[in-house]
Amino acid sequence: MTYPSSDEEAFLIEPKPLAGFVETPYVKKIVARALNYIKAGFPIHFRGISGTGKTTLAMHIAGKLGRPMVLLHGDDQLKTADLVGGEHGYRYRRLVDNFIASVKKTEEDMTRRWSDNRLTIACKNGYTLVYDEFTRSRPEANNILLSVLQEKVMDLPGNRDEEEAYLRVHPNFTAIFTSNPEEYAGVHKAQDALRDRMVTLDLDFMDRPTEVAICQAKSGIERQEAEAIVAIVRGLRDSGEYEFAPTVRAAVMIARSCKIYPGAVIAADNGVFRLICQDILSSETSRLGMRNNHLKVKQLVKELVTKHCGRKKTSHLSMVRTKLKINPVSPV
Ligand SMILES: Nc1ncnc2c1ncn2[C@@H]1O[C@H](COP(=O)(O)OP(=O)(O)O)[C@@H](O)[C@H]1O
Ligand SMILES: [Mg+2]
Repeated sequence: MTYPSSDEEAFLIEPKPLAGFVETPYVKKIVARALNYIKAGFPIHFRGISGTGKTTLAMHIAGKLGRPMVLLHGDDQLKTADLVGGEHGYRYRRLVDNFIASVKKTEEDMTRRWSDNRLTIACKNGYTLVYDEFTRSRPEANNILLSVLQEKVMDLPGNRDEEEAYLRVHPNFTAIFTSNPEEYAGVHKAQDALRDRMVTLDLDFMDRPTEVAICQAKSGIERQEAEAIVAIVRGLRDSGEYEFAPTVRAAVMIARSCKIYPGAVIAADNGVFRLICQDILSSETSRLGMRNNHLKVKQLVKELVTKHCGRKKTSHLSMVRTKLKINPVSPV
């Protein structure tokens, strides 16, 4: 993927509160830490495995800074020009001077047209740059950031006048980075020089109250139901029986699926609920879909559902759905 150079406004995101953002004491603490480092003049870097809330926190903090933001997603194909800009096309100018009726003068010229890209726009105007999963881009594409973060100047490539060759970074410019651990597929090693210039906050799994609050906020299920789903996800995580640890994302997916799946009731004796848990937790915890992993997860989920969910009488609505045989699913 490459970023087309285009109008500045097309890149800008207005700072506003994120819908459904959950602020538990756990979240507030991280936000306060990050804001303090930003105030001290340092870029922030959230590092942690997938599903620990890095992107959401980065966007929330960018919103709190109250400046427009530009968002970049790290990508192996990204080149420096995708960050900085480049000479894209030509600008054609034709001037017809007919001031004196008997004399007509025409001037034409064609100049190469430079378009700023996201990093340049943010540096020039003092906006907030959110560079999500920046280690997915090749280190050489990110080199441009070294002088931006340290010397607060940016080299502008191309045939430019001397005075135009550098851009002084606006004092309000702030950068927030996120990255996944280096062992993830498609992730490059973060350059030490770049890492040295930012404050890295390592994020772990969220605490239980935060996971419950997010699960509830993102699905609209009852608190008790969110607690049961989160207990299942955390139980599987504590078991260590997976390739990838299940995250709050799985809890949200289970909760949302239960809301619309005919016949689903968040209860131990509900076959549809067990099926949803197994489908979502097997896919989130395994990259290769090995049979062994699937069977282990299936067994564990069965036990965890029995442990954490009460037996509920199937609701009237789901009985009607079952009777009408809407999406019948055999118990698993
Ligand atoms: N503070 C929060 N409030 C509401 N939802 C959140 C919060 N933090 C994370 N989430 C939700 O949790 C899931 C994982 O968060 P995300 O930021 O995508 O994690 P990461 O970037 O680390 O993979 C997403 O569905 C996101 O919407
Ligand atoms: Mg993310």
